[in-house]
Amino acid sequence: MSTISDVAKRAGVSTMTVSRVVNNSGYISQETRERVERAIAELGYVPNALARYLRFKQTKTIALILTDITNPFFTTIARGVEDAARDQGFSVIFCNTDESETEQTEYLQLLLQRQVDGFLLVPASDSDESIAALRARGVPVVLLDRRLSVGEFDSVRCDSVQGAYELVHHLLALGHTRIAVLSGSKAVSTAVDRVAGYTRAMCEAGIGEDQHLVFYDRFTQGDGYRMAQRALAASPRPTAIFAANNFIAFGAIRAIQEADLRIPEDISIVTFDDLPQLWVMDPFLTVVTQPAYEIGHKATELLLDRLAGEGPVETREIMLPAELIVRKSSGPPPTVATKL
Ligand code: RIB
Repeated sequence: MSTISDVAKRAGVSTMTVSRVVNNSGYISQETRERVERAIAELGYVPNALARYLRFKQTKTIALILTDITNPFFTTIARGVEDAARDQGFSVIFCNTDESETEQTEYLQLLLQRQVDGFLLVPASDSDESIAALRARGVPVVLLDRRLSVGEFDSVRCDSVQGAYELVHHLLALGHTRIAVLSGSKAVSTAVDRVAGYTRAMCEAGIGEDQHLVFYDRFTQGDGYRMAQRALAASPRPTAIFAANNFIAFGAIRAIQEADLRIPEDISIVTFDDLPQLWVMDPFLTVVTQPAYEIGHKATELLLDRLAGEGPVETREIMLPAELIVRKSSGPPPTVATKL
């Protein structure tokens, strides 16, 4: 295996010069840089990341820990993270926890052992227990998409309460009064905040909250299907469903179709998180769409500022705007529609 000395000899420079090229640090003329990079390629030299860490106390590596790598909302976040990290010469390790705090704790421990410089985390639950080890070592953490009720963390997310309020207000303005909400786990802030936005809109309209129409489970299609079946069995049946995220909505649509109901003629459905426009030729879901790419990109810039010792000392909580897009999945309730 080629060493840094072999590269230096081949390129006719010192090992310090090779190290500067590899670590992108210090001034190097373009001609020298090209000569060293050519020698690295010819010898197949692979820099030793551990040696770099021991010298610079930095591996130029950050970790992104997501909760559902199959959801395009999170893969779009990952794209924003990778672009921002690459711009500053950092690598990214991606991990998926499936909304499990146990897996989250295991990944955090594993990545700490690999001397990851900083963490971007979508918390699997509203607890900072598994993050305590990072705080104890002073390793920077930025939360994405969700907040924690305990601890002070830099974060980048959208306002789920406001987004949910706007979706439900849209249904109320159409004439709906029997609206069910299907949400994720109570351990997750976005699930809780979306129900809070629903409740605020229902109470403002003087309708209040009917506990028989409020469901919590997980942000999955299977759970969306089962929650929707229970909602459709309520009497009188709701004329609209607010699904707290896209996967719950897909499961709910399957249950609605199995009940031989039409959308929106018999029942309306609204949700969070659009699908990437390239995936759906004729999008029909009324949604609140979150700027997932910007959430990832902004959070990474914030983390790298921390690693560079830049930016204000106080915690930075960045809220990005979400956008309501009204489409064909929401319409007047059946009784109102027949009067039109
Ligand atoms: O599962 C995806 C959902 O959970 C998204 O709406 C996102 O906001 C996350 O909290």
